[in-house]
Amino acid sequence: MCGIVGYVGYRKASPLLLKGLKNLEYRGYDSAGIATCHAQSCIEVRKGIGKVEEIEKKLNFESLDGDMGIAHTRWATHGAVTDRNAHPHTDSTGKIAIVHNGIIENYGELKEELIEKGHEFRSETDSEVIAHLIEENIAYGFEDACMSAFNRLKGSYAILAIKEGEDKIIGIRKDSPLVVGIAEHGTFFASDIPSFLEWTKNVMYLYNYDIVIAGKEGIRVYNEGLEVSRPIDTVEWDIEQAKKGEFGHFMMKEISEQAETVMKAIKQDRAVVSAIVEEMKNAFGIFFVGCGSSYHASLAGSYFFSKEVKMHVNPVLASEFENYEHFLTDKTLVFAVSQSGETADVLEAVRVAKGRGSRVIGITNVLGSSLTMEGDASLLMHSGPEICVLSTKTYTSQVVLMNLLAHALVNRYEEYMADVKSLYLGIYNLTSRTMREHLEELAKELVEEEHIYLIGRGLQYATALEAALKIKEVSYIHAEAFAGGELKHGPLALIEEGTPVIAFTARDNCNKILSNMHEVKARGGWIVGVSAKESDLFDYWVKVPEAGALNPIVQIIPIQILAYELAVLRGVDPDKPRNLAKSVTVT
Ligand code: G6P
Repeated sequence: MCGIVGYVGYRKASPLLLKGLKNLEYRGYDSAGIATCHAQSCIEVRKGIGKVEEIEKKLNFESLDGDMGIAHTRWATHGAVTDRNAHPHTDSTGKIAIVHNGIIENYGELKEELIEKGHEFRSETDSEVIAHLIEENIAYGFEDACMSAFNRLKGSYAILAIKEGEDKIIGIRKDSPLVVGIAEHGTFFASDIPSFLEWTKNVMYLYNYDIVIAGKEGIRVYNEGLEVSRPIDTVEWDIEQAKKGEFGHFMMKEISEQAETVMKAIKQDRAVVSAIVEEMKNAFGIFFVGCGSSYHASLAGSYFFSKEVKMHVNPVLASEFENYEHFLTDKTLVFAVSQSGETADVLEAVRVAKGRGSRVIGITNVLGSSLTMEGDASLLMHSGPEICVLSTKTYTSQVVLMNLLAHALVNRYEEYMADVKSLYLGIYNLTSRTMREHLEELAKELVEEEHIYLIGRGLQYATALEAALKIKEVSYIHAEAFAGGELKHGPLALIEEGTPVIAFTARDNCNKILSNMHEVKARGGWIVGVSAKESDLFDYWVKVPEAGALNPIVQIIPIQILAYELAVLRGVDPDKPRNLAKSVTVT
């Protein structure tokens, strides 16, 4: 969704905020803005529509003065994409500025009340009410005014506020991400760590309703009116991981990292894994919930547990999870799968589960995310920051972790470790220049298509779903996946001369999917086979190693690359496809 960043300290704020915004842009990129202020000077706000780089050219953010400021990059929810609706928003006097990520559910009634009191609104956003609410109580001082304003809000929010004449930033979080970075020269606030990773690795994670008051002299944190202390951790992430390096886009960089990230995912604390395995053995009902790619990884997981462990787990889309509420008890174990740990639908599912007394284990990439704070335990993916809106390396890490749990449950942990390690070269080769060129050729064949269909069975069905998601979200070509067996129940009607169908085949269900390919071929379909063995049925062959339970990893990588090449050929920015955001923090 939106990304926010703030800085107060001994350096000029605007260049730091601009850099922070660029690092956060994957969270939303329809408009952006910065407000800065020096304790003795006025607040100055510059904002506009477009990507940060475009706005920067027009508004010259870096020329903004002041050693304190707040910034925002937007993914519109309430109010169209206009200059006025871009953040920061100010109060009626222009002396208070705020940025907000989340949704203020009761903004309608608050707005009415404030208009009656004479406040004039300039935007259609829910967020603007926050600035006016602070203004309403400013006679009691900036800190108290913020606290009483925050008390009136319903919904989800991470907010930063500044006021002319005050040398502090006041921030709060509730169900929306906000972390604090402690650098030698000042304090950062941000929706996500990569925003300030260049200046500090010291991070303070916040709990819901934490109010942070940060000035040059230090930080105070309050929760429910009481001053509290929050530990400061050092993150293992590296700034180089959050840069594109030699790659044109983060998407290709992150795809190429998978030989390494898959190896990092298996480096888990054995004691943590054993504890989770015990919980699984004792659970009565196990769910895997996630959205988008994390759901597809969950679906792949359900096949691992069925095949390797003979254990039934329920993969459920997080947004649909409440429909299963009645099956949840204090014996149920819920795995909440989320790269960011901030997806609102997933967090909602966590709350539903916890409300029923169920245990929740997060599978996530972000330590300190809401999921790690709200879940009972976590398994971390260790993939490093993923900046591209599309999940690539984190999808394969999720698959690795689920497979690891399945193997641990049947005492094949070591064997599994060896299997994964032996795949290093295979994964590396899948991202080689030769493979990329091969897939670029395929992309040229497919670039003018309106529809691409994908088929697979069992684990390969989960891969087909994930592959279809990659293609559609980044190339805008309609891509749809079917379980091979379902073709004859409807989708065959879509196949005509030349219709492209990507088929994923594997050793364990080769014959059945071959029959499906015959069905497609008989109707003139153009088949791309993703498999270890060639077939006469293929019009184009993408050769991958046969990796058994690890097939979802080796089979998705070529399609991630294909999707990337399609996006580039069609002139789409693969890191920021239209209408999407990496962390969707609204339900
Ligand atoms: C968004 C992203 C997807 C991602 C999904 C779940 O829709 O665009 O790429 O798979 O959120 O994200 P999560 O962080 O919960 O895994």
